[in-house]
Amino acid sequence: MNPLVVGNWKMNGTLSQASNLAAAIVQGTSQKTPKAAVVLAPPATALGTVQERIATSGISLAGQNCHWEDNGAFTGEISPAMLADLGCTYVIVGHSERRHVFNESDEITARKLAAAIRNNLRPILCVGETLDQRNAGRTMEVILRQIQFALKEPNENVIANLDIAYEPVWAIGTGHNADPSQIAEVHGAIRSHLTNSFGKASVRILYGGSVNAENATDLGRISEVNGLLVGGASLKPESFLRVVRCFDDE
Ligand code: PGA
Repeated sequence: MNPLVVGNWKMNGTLSQASNLAAAIVQGTSQKTPKAAVVLAPPATALGTVQERIATSGISLAGQNCHWEDNGAFTGEISPAMLADLGCTYVIVGHSERRHVFNESDEITARKLAAAIRNNLRPILCVGETLDQRNAGRTMEVILRQIQFALKEPNENVIANLDIAYEPVWAIGTGHNADPSQIAEVHGAIRSHLTNSFGKASVRILYGGSVNAENATDLGRISEVNGLLVGGASLKPESFLRVVRCFDDE
């Protein structure tokens, strides 16, 4: 299972910016294939443009979000079937901005995850505690609840096609990444939970939250970390490429 590095561009980029960013990342990975699998999650408006840029590169495309139905009267929404149609192979589900800014519940996240699997997309399930929850000693309870809810009706297909990203809410976009012992503790607990529930699962557990070119090597070295989910630093090709390369052998 190779590590996974995901660039989540969030709500950033015109078509020409997205095209240039994707082209620079393709260029930077073309000389020597990185050890990590690379996934780009541009805004929905740029999915088609980015797909054209990465078409022959080995880089994969992800949606940042999806609806839980395949089609219907849901103004403004995008279904997983539509993402698949645009060439996506992954979709981010349950990102903390969806949970906290758009009030998406564990229930909604579970439905989205099921819809992604139904449409042959690999969900990247995001989980993470707020600072208040961490300070109250509730980190593990919150994260395991988020995972249990999302995997309410797991089947082999779900477990074989899932990646999980641990993203502490207090570390996202703040410049303060979680420290290695905090990450190892949470990733270890997630891994034990998965092993106890599903046996030896091939689920990758990514870390996300203020990952950048400077801290990526230390974060990538933590043995429980199987990849990185990158927000802000994924908008600068040289920073993102350094994160991608942190998994390469020296
Ligand atoms: P950040 O965002 O790297 O800017 O902290 C990470 C994320 O939200 O996935």
